[in-house]
Amino acid sequence: MSSFLSASIGRKFLMSLTGLFLVSFLCIHLTLNLFLTFDDSGDLFNQAAHFMATNPFIRVMEPLLALGFVIHIIWSGLITLDNMRARPQKYAYGDSLLSWWAPSKNMFILGALVLTFLVIHIMNFWVKMKLTGDPLLTNVTVGGVEMHNAYALVSALFRNPLYDLIYVLGGILVGLHISHGFWSAFQTIGLSNQIWISRLKTVAVTIGVVFGVGFSYIPLYFLIKF
Ligand code: HEM
Repeated sequence: MSSFLSASIGRKFLMSLTGLFLVSFLCIHLTLNLFLTFDDSGDLFNQAAHFMATNPFIRVMEPLLALGFVIHIIWSGLITLDNMRARPQKYAYGDSLLSWWAPSKNMFILGALVLTFLVIHIMNFWVKMKLTGDPLLTNVTVGGVEMHNAYALVSALFRNPLYDLIYVLGGILVGLHISHGFWSAFQTIGLSNQIWISRLKTVAVTIGVVFGVGFSYIPLYFLIKF
């Protein structure tokens, strides 16, 4: 088993599985975040955030999610190193731009940019909500239940056009990364064939566009609103 995981195919396999797991997280994350734009009182989003913070199943899933990210990031670095070792020579002049912009390298660069976004993002919200607290998070009562005012924290951040830009770019980068990664993961796992590969590519691009547009829409909504 350990030799399978350290072999190139084993690494790719694990990266694919964790990638698909992260896509399923992002589906839920996007859906709940869109509540920010459905209800300007913030009650709907606060209830969703409170549910996520207190539901026992979600609490068990949170460390697994973090583990999924860590494995996905470390393994992608290892695979890229392997690829660079396997083909150390620089691309010759005259090699087309396409060969430089090869999918694996492209995915690594996009992944690194997504990671940069993720670090900023975790500092903006997760650290404040789980670790340090923030004056904006003072408790509100919704439907008789006391909870953090997560809406106040998020909407205050999106009053800053610089963060709106960062989050629009973050959404687009995630969308681009997934529009390749999703079908590629199925191919690595072996759940694809000649017929299915083109269908999976269409699904991947659709998910990528939904994530790109969906995540970008939220900061843009607040930018226009304020
Ligand atoms: C408009 C865009 C987004 C908004 C408003 C948003 C909002 C939030 C909030 C409020 C939290 C803290 C939740 C909590 O601790 O209970 C959070 C956590 C998180 N977000 Fe986002 N997010 C956005 C986009 C993204 C994107 C594009 C990614 C993926 C790259 C992402 C990945 C995460 C992760 C991994 C966590 C920590 C896990 C968790 O606590 O749920 N988010 N986000």
